[in-house]
Amino acid sequence: MIQRFCFGKMVPTDTVVQPVTPSDGPVPLLTRDGDGWLYHMAPTDVVYGLGETLRGINKRGWHYTSFCADDPTHTEGKVSLYGAHNFFVVDGGPDRRFGVFVDFGGQVDYDIGYTRTDTLRFTVAEPNYDLYLITGDSVPALCAEFRRLVGRSYIPPRWAFGLGQSRWGYKNAEDIRAVVRGYRENHLPLDAVYLDIDYMQDYADFTVNPERFPDLAALAQELKAQGIRMVPIIDAGIKKDPDNPVCREGLEKGYYCTKEDGSPFVGAVWPGEAYFADFLRPEVRRWFGHQYKVLLDAGVEGFWNDMNEPAIFYTPERLAQVIDAVGAFRGRKLDLEDYFTFNNLSGSLPNNMQDYASFYHEVEGEKVRHDRIHNLYGYNMTRAAAEAFDELRPGQRTLLFSRASCIGAHRYGGIWLGDNNAWWSQLQLNLHQMPGVQMSGFLFSGADLGGFGSDTTPDLALRWLEFGIFTPLMRNHAAAGTRDQEYYRFPEHLDAIRNMIRLRYALLPYLYSEFVKAALSDGMYFRPLAFDYPDDPMAREVEDQLLLGEGLMVAPVTVQNATGRYVYLPEGMKMLRLRSAEDYDECMLPAGHHYLACGLNEVLLFIRPGHIVPVAAPADCTDQLDTGHLTLWRCLPDGPASYRMYTDDGLTTDYDKPEHWRLLQADPE
Ligand code: GLC
Repeated sequence: MIQRFCFGKMVPTDTVVQPVTPSDGPVPLLTRDGDGWLYHMAPTDVVYGLGETLRGINKRGWHYTSFCADDPTHTEGKVSLYGAHNFFVVDGGPDRRFGVFVDFGGQVDYDIGYTRTDTLRFTVAEPNYDLYLITGDSVPALCAEFRRLVGRSYIPPRWAFGLGQSRWGYKNAEDIRAVVRGYRENHLPLDAVYLDIDYMQDYADFTVNPERFPDLAALAQELKAQGIRMVPIIDAGIKKDPDNPVCREGLEKGYYCTKEDGSPFVGAVWPGEAYFADFLRPEVRRWFGHQYKVLLDAGVEGFWNDMNEPAIFYTPERLAQVIDAVGAFRGRKLDLEDYFTFNNLSGSLPNNMQDYASFYHEVEGEKVRHDRIHNLYGYNMTRAAAEAFDELRPGQRTLLFSRASCIGAHRYGGIWLGDNNAWWSQLQLNLHQMPGVQMSGFLFSGADLGGFGSDTTPDLALRWLEFGIFTPLMRNHAAAGTRDQEYYRFPEHLDAIRNMIRLRYALLPYLYSEFVKAALSDGMYFRPLAFDYPDDPMAREVEDQLLLGEGLMVAPVTVQNATGRYVYLPEGMKMLRLRSAEDYDECMLPAGHHYLACGLNEVLLFIRPGHIVPVAAPADCTDQLDTGHLTLWRCLPDGPASYRMYTDDGLTTDYDKPEHWRLLQADPE
């Protein structure tokens, strides 16, 4: 059941798609506490959700701020990341099981047992928001109910489930060709190469550098002939350049966010000074979205939207102030306080709250200050693109994912988990984040495999790949200046890496079917164990294993130098210790705790009883995947079972046709 409570006059977010009549009565379960809402947690209550955040699957014991943040250092002390996802669930058994969704575009703060271990409290930055309280018979049921409220999750083309290779620093068409050669010559499957900002002219959106990429359309065609798509980046800031026709048109039409005095707001990002399209206005979304046409016309079928928190390195006004303040120190001896003031000056430039409070949007004819709707910005950039793709490529799926997001954006695209680091803790965080983002509807998601910042190591790249083969978005991406980490760069592990990528492709009939099932039924592709084993107290504590679709459980190794790990089985399952799709050992394991060996070249996979997993012969790209000849892995202790497999063309949007489903049947071995 969903109840809605309205407070004040909310700036519309367009997140909810199913109207719910507002309730007049008191909000059940929560208590008003000054400017916030309070809930007393029992010691055994578990709190799930909040999407893309820090810390564990169980969110207890920390505080979080929903405010899309451009922050590449995802350490435990942080409170915000790129997404702002205001849905959480308290699971304390039948009478104490409920979900909360705060429908609001500005800042929301959550204290989940941080100030007091037994108290959950959240506050909304202003008294204008809708609060939804969701109850249900089980945690998965109430999550599904919430997802019906906010609408069906985005489904990308099937090729987007293949491996993508990216790096900030591929400078020209030759670099791209070299990457493709590296993959193909080493017989590593690949479906996409990503273009980072280097493909643009001076980092201006919707331009292509003619020297470095003389014929983008020809390059797209050449790659596609090898089964590989090219996926360019689009940034939120539009380069301030009077000679650029897109920039000029936006100015002439008054499509940019404005300062208090009505003049266009300027902030610096990769292209230097830039304007920010006011994506909250439908006509601006349409205008911006149609700019993607120039790349679609060159044969591009997918994009990643970046810097759309929006990231602002500095505003000219603040920069001038900081330079003055720095200048004032010239010739002075710095005491300790001066030193810290001086030291903090340049750090105050990026993503400054005062800057976010200095520009305006127009929402339904009213001027709204940016910080009040900050979390809607990335969402509406994604929406701008998706709405235009519906017009420009009707009936076709386009790959689209974003860095910033809030719930609502899940209908238009996926997300990646932003600028992580090549640290083992970030691999663990990747695992922790997956159920949270899925609860919020972002089924198509994944982290920068291998790590974005810092230098990766061969073992981290391989272990992360061994989890990445299960994430819907599977993309290796790295920052400029870091160690090369394309998968062919690790000769010592090349065979293991090849086997793992091929395993991903072999599992695609299952992974893709489970993804589509989750999308069409408002379910979750990845789930914490307790979602399916609610009566098992141990399952509630497992933070390093996930259920994947109806029949699998994954338990990746996320610790350096480990040669195995403990795994908890809530019931007896079949374990596969896979070196490749063809080379593995298997055994039935009883419920309980097990220490299982798992070498660097191995991955542990568990099939739940009564389930079948269709496996194809590995292929070099998704287009070549043969789903006509399948091997059926199974764990059928109690007799035959069947599996519904989704087999469509992977390109068109007729998701719901019943003929896409094939029923596979298997007997016990
Ligand atoms: C941002 C993105 C990153 C990209 C870089 C350069 O940091 O998050 O993925 O490589 O910008 O465009």
